[in-house]
Amino acid sequence: MEHIHPHEHAIGPQDRILTKGHKPLAVWLSGLSGSGKSTIASVLEKKLLEKGYHTFLLDGDNTRSGLNSDLGFSDDDRKENLRRLSELNRLFVDAGLIVISAFISPFESERKLARSKIGDETFFEVFVDCPLEVCELRDPKGLYRKARKGEIANFTGISSPFERPSTPDVHIRSDKLTPEESADKLVEVIVPRIEL
Ligand code: ADX
Repeated sequence: MEHIHPHEHAIGPQDRILTKGHKPLAVWLSGLSGSGKSTIASVLEKKLLEKGYHTFLLDGDNTRSGLNSDLGFSDDDRKENLRRLSELNRLFVDAGLIVISAFISPFESERKLARSKIGDETFFEVFVDCPLEVCELRDPKGLYRKARKGEIANFTGISSPFERPSTPDVHIRSDKLTPEESADKLVEVIVPRIEL
């Protein structure tokens, strides 16, 4: 940070809240691959958009194809992946948006770091909880089958850990609810957080 001098901007969070008509929020969905994060995130974004909120969706598979295409799935790479995504979330929150993130984010320490970077007030952690056996049965991308055969290293739930969120703002059993029901449950708790 030597010789770096961040600028003060003329437009601040309060100005953006007034132009957008709602408060910003980072809705962070964490869960195993195949747990339904991306599907729920997409239904949730549509529902919020229909209510007139300004949203943006970030998805691990997409950000790993661009911004984070230089990173793999070692513990260190996942940490760097999530550090950058936390910074990205902060920028979107600063821009006044409801940013919905679907990242496995398997480590408690990185989720804590995200909360501290983004701010307690604007970080909303959702645990998309689906038993490994169910995710593995669904196997929408065929990745569990490959991981079991040893063709993918460090696969979450198989050869790399997933630390269950201990204090999420919302806990969703995505094996018991449809994506529509999960998104409805989220809208119910998110709207009071973003309304003026
Ligand atoms: S995270 O652990 O760093 O948060 P992220 O959400 O960005 O993961 O990316 C997860 C996506 O990458 C999965 O949905 C899956 O499609 C793909 N993927 C490829 N290799 C792995 C792996 N070893 N473990 C988990 N997901 C993987």
